[in-house]
Amino acid sequence: MSRKIIIAIDGYSSTGKSTFAKLIASKTGYLHLDSGAVYRAVTLFGIRGGWIDADNNIDEKSLRAAMRQLRVSLRPDTYINEENVEGLIRQMDVSNAVSPVSALGFVREFVDRLLRRYGKKGGIVMDGRDIGTNVFPDAQLKIFMTADDKVRAQRRYDEMVAGGKEVSFEEVMKNIQDRDYKDTHREISPLRQAPDAIVLDNTNLTLEQEMDWFTDLMRTKFGIELK
Ligand code: DC
Repeated sequence: MSRKIIIAIDGYSSTGKSTFAKLIASKTGYLHLDSGAVYRAVTLFGIRGGWIDADNNIDEKSLRAAMRQLRVSLRPDTYINEENVEGLIRQMDVSNAVSPVSALGFVREFVDRLLRRYGKKGGIVMDGRDIGTNVFPDAQLKIFMTADDKVRAQRRYDEMVAGGKEVSFEEVMKNIQDRDYKDTHREISPLRQAPDAIVLDNTNLTLEQEMDWFTDLMRTKFGIELK
């Protein structure tokens, strides 16, 4: 692929954004960057430093001051300084605290600055909640992913049960609805569909069908032929 564009993928949680973004990146030869991972790295940093307690109360002033020393990078695994924290940022303590952390203005500024540096040369696929609306409003391709919430909950539930976790479908459904509410009602950069985004509703699609959809899109919209 010769033209190096920015592909922004936003959408509701558990719509398979990361999986789709990774596959697109391998098809196009682009770099996949997961913006949620940076919010998670900031959260891990805050928990370790003691500025976020077990009830997710945040000492905003101290966290903000400490973040002057924080260096996060996506390689594409997530690093804090020279430490690979990819596994740690997916654990429950971080997942539980990341939502309020990602609502803080100074955290969003920190993450936005970092993400924009990666976009300078193009050739990236970035997924998140505000990539097409806020981080890269000029991205050449914006995809907004959605799916019926019952279908999303079922997929997440099946994944968790297969991984040996004991959860009820109702719990998973409630968690998804909570996250949808928080993501769309946050004061700064809430989840919104950009007016120029193309909607990908994968309620009734397999991953293979999603990839066919993407290949067609690249051909018709950009004249780019992917194998
Ligand atoms: O996609 P994820 O679950 O790894 O995202 C972690 C958190 O970060 C989630 O609460 C939403 C938030 N987030 C955000 O506010 N903006 C983004 N661009 C990406 C993630």
